[in-house]
Amino acid sequence: MNYKILCVDDEQIILDALDRLLRHVGYQYILTAHSGELGLGILENNQDADVIIADEKMGDGMSGSQFLKESMIFCPDAIRIQLTAYSDSDILVEAVNEAKIFRHVRKPWNNKQLVQTVQEGLKQRLLKRRENQRLDKMTRAAKYYRAESVRLKKENQELASNLDQLQESIGQTASKTNQSFLDTLLFTMQYVNPTLWQHSRRVGKWCRLMADAVVEDGQSSTAFPADILEMAGVLHDIGKLKFPESLWRIPVVDLSEDQKKQVSMHVEDGLWLIRRLPDEVRKILRKPIRQHHERRDGKGYYGIFLDQIDDWAQIIGIVSDYDNFRFSKLHGGPLGPLEVIEKMKEDVYSPSEQIGKYNERLFDVFENLSTNISDVELDRTESVELPSIQDVTPGKILAEDLYTVKDIFFLARNHMIESSDIEKMRIYEDEDNGVRNIWVQSSQE
Ligand SMILES: [Fe+2]
Repeated sequence: MNYKILCVDDEQIILDALDRLLRHVGYQYILTAHSGELGLGILENNQDADVIIADEKMGDGMSGSQFLKESMIFCPDAIRIQLTAYSDSDILVEAVNEAKIFRHVRKPWNNKQLVQTVQEGLKQRLLKRRENQRLDKMTRAAKYYRAESVRLKKENQELASNLDQLQESIGQTASKTNQSFLDTLLFTMQYVNPTLWQHSRRVGKWCRLMADAVVEDGQSSTAFPADILEMAGVLHDIGKLKFPESLWRIPVVDLSEDQKKQVSMHVEDGLWLIRRLPDEVRKILRKPIRQHHERRDGKGYYGIFLDQIDDWAQIIGIVSDYDNFRFSKLHGGPLGPLEVIEKMKEDVYSPSEQIGKYNERLFDVFENLSTNISDVELDRTESVELPSIQDVTPGKILAEDLYTVKDIFFLARNHMIESSDIEKMRIYEDEDNGVRNIWVQSSQE
């Protein structure tokens, strides 16, 4: 057996006896010392000793208890056995407490009993060592999981923070994309059909104002995000871009049944045109665009009535009708703001029809809003296209970048036109490369 055992006694005969006995039962690695001092010297170089057996009485030198106590410095886990001829219980108790002695063996010993004591000590030591290993493993595991938990927590926090940043960035990108999409559409409308552009732009602005006013008024539990409601207002009639030129000249009251049907198609065409918008935006805009001609009395395109009509669509319906009465010849305009409000009121509180066209509380909010905001305020940044350079005068501010017919950049948006600019425009025109699409801010008119 590969255990290392140190025996300490000042009598050689005892050491020989122990050596013989232990070798006889199979222990191969036996060390001996004649005194405690020598024993400590040996242990200093053999700190892996498994068993230490020491006689208590060793001449004038160190006692067995003292030696065993000091042996703990080199071999704290070794099995310590004390051989003693004494029966003084005080000495025994002291030895057990101070020198961590596993057992006392009385001299003269019984061979079988001594061997059994060594075996039991080794067995107990093995069990203790396994227990220590298990505890050590558990401690290391706990430490690892604690560290791992801290690391994961930190990682989760970082991930959550990254996710927040990502969502914020996606939100910002989406918002910018939506805004630039809206700008592009407005720009296209402005170019293709200035009348439709002006109407859409104003309806968008009213929608934005209504979004805030309805929420401020506390009359709605529905969320009206101003950006999106403005977008819905701007896009509500986008399908009219498909109208043939002739439809823009016939007053609404003079439309034939076929023409009315043709007009009503602008709702579906509008939905078709916004199909490339991001899904989440398109889903929000669908109902407001589809239902903006529905009225509470059920006389709209699809016959939807009362609160079946989407709230946003009801808002667009009110502000769109108001704008048409105010500015569109085809709708009997132009009329003054109070005149239009009075005219619409007849449809809100209809004595004959029982149910009015418009939602009373939304109309009240709009009436209040319309009396506080002038046309000038609403159209503050509106621009107009000048037919030719003959109409350009110094001091006008460009509402869009200016290019020549050969697509050479000429002047930037927001530039105030000077006489020298007009001179250059004329030179370009003489060279068949005149400027085109001169848009200036209307406040400069
Ligand atoms: Fe419409």
